Amino acid sequence: MPANQTVKKINSLKGEVSIPPDKSISHRSAMCAALTGGIVEVNNFSQGADCISTLNIVKALGCDVEFLGDKHIKIDASNAFKKDVYNLDCGNSGTSMRLFSGIVASRESETTLFGDESLSKRPMKRIITPLELMGAKIKHNQFKAPLLIKGAELFPIDYKSPIASAQVKSCILLAGLNTYGETKVTEPYLSRNHTEKMLKYLDADIETCGTVSKIRKSQLTPRNLSVCGDISSAAFFMVAAAIVPGSDVILKNVGLNPTRTGIVDILLKMGADIEILNQRLECNEEIGDIHIRYSSLKSVTIEGEIIPRLIDELPVIAVLATQAEGTTIVKDASDLRNKEADRIKCLVAELKKIGADIEEKPDGFIINGKTKLKGDAEVECYHDHRLAMSLYVAGLVCDKPVLIKEFDWVNISFPEFLSLMNVLSV
Ligand code: S3P
Repeated sequence: MPANQTVKKINSLKGEVSIPPDKSISHRSAMCAALTGGIVEVNNFSQGADCISTLNIVKALGCDVEFLGDKHIKIDASNAFKKDVYNLDCGNSGTSMRLFSGIVASRESETTLFGDESLSKRPMKRIITPLELMGAKIKHNQFKAPLLIKGAELFPIDYKSPIASAQVKSCILLAGLNTYGETKVTEPYLSRNHTEKMLKYLDADIETCGTVSKIRKSQLTPRNLSVCGDISSAAFFMVAAAIVPGSDVILKNVGLNPTRTGIVDILLKMGADIEILNQRLECNEEIGDIHIRYSSLKSVTIEGEIIPRLIDELPVIAVLATQAEGTTIVKDASDLRNKEADRIKCLVAELKKIGADIEEKPDGFIINGKTKLKGDAEVECYHDHRLAMSLYVAGLVCDKPVLIKEFDWVNISFPEFLSLMNVLSV
């Protein structure tokens, strides 16, 4: 029976914690390791259920995976991609399904990719269309999973993606990695570019310029990888510290790739007291520590180019906006409706239950602040890890306790969430 969780008002958050491994980069590290055909050690691999789904897929594809330590794995890919038929369980993970689709489409095997109830409802047309243009043969359930991909030699394409999605871009680039000629993807705005950075780090023939990426068939070099902390996980603590009076925290080892730092830009715009310390580069990715203290906040409008840079943080940004003076507007974010849950509809419904002044819009929401949240409610997380954690952060400033049902969906990306929250809560 999934565990419920009660959250109560706290005095403040104080101290420092290391932020657990980035989900997007962990996925890509296991996938790229499998594609090297050699032996790769990955340091600081996420223990979230989504990344474990990817690790299990890599095993199903023939890799030998060994845990050398808690989050330190060794992937031996010398026997990968040798079978004719694969059945790949992607669990709840959209990244696994969409990126592995690109990987298997260009290899001669017959692969079924399936997932849980939530993943089976998510749109796959966005990757089916470009893969079919490359010549892939895909059977699907009205453009949803399960997907049956009959892999073959593909043709390069010049694809203009209608959406700024790193999953779509990565799917095409990973297919292009095993396709003769130049495969080119252009997106309307730049989405997270971890795939491009990791492929480059492993010597792929890939070039990027603004919103355009080009790749040619290449063999990856097996090279050890290290995963930085997840800014999307850090975001819950950034927002908590920004809204709980008296807070002062340092979040260590956080990935600061500019395609992911929209949350930092928005906090600064809202007047948050935030500074970046100890900036450095690790495996081609920017990383640093974030020092954030409570301060009074003002509203902002969030739209356009910044949306892909903070897409996963929008639910917790809505919580932040309830504690900012004025009207915060979020637009151009209709793809939030296609995440693990319809994050616009579900978030608005649940935040209203605890007293937020929030209005649903087709492509976002409008929040009036600053609101004294009353709490004193039972809320749903709709099997969505980020909704669960966003509601928890809201509960920290509610007058009365909030019960979050089925809170353990948090394990999808951030099993360490409650223990880190306990370390920081005073
Ligand atoms: C991800 C890309 C984003 C993000 C998701 C992870 C990735 O999705 O929301 O949590 O790892 O590539 P889209 O590419 O669909 O925007």
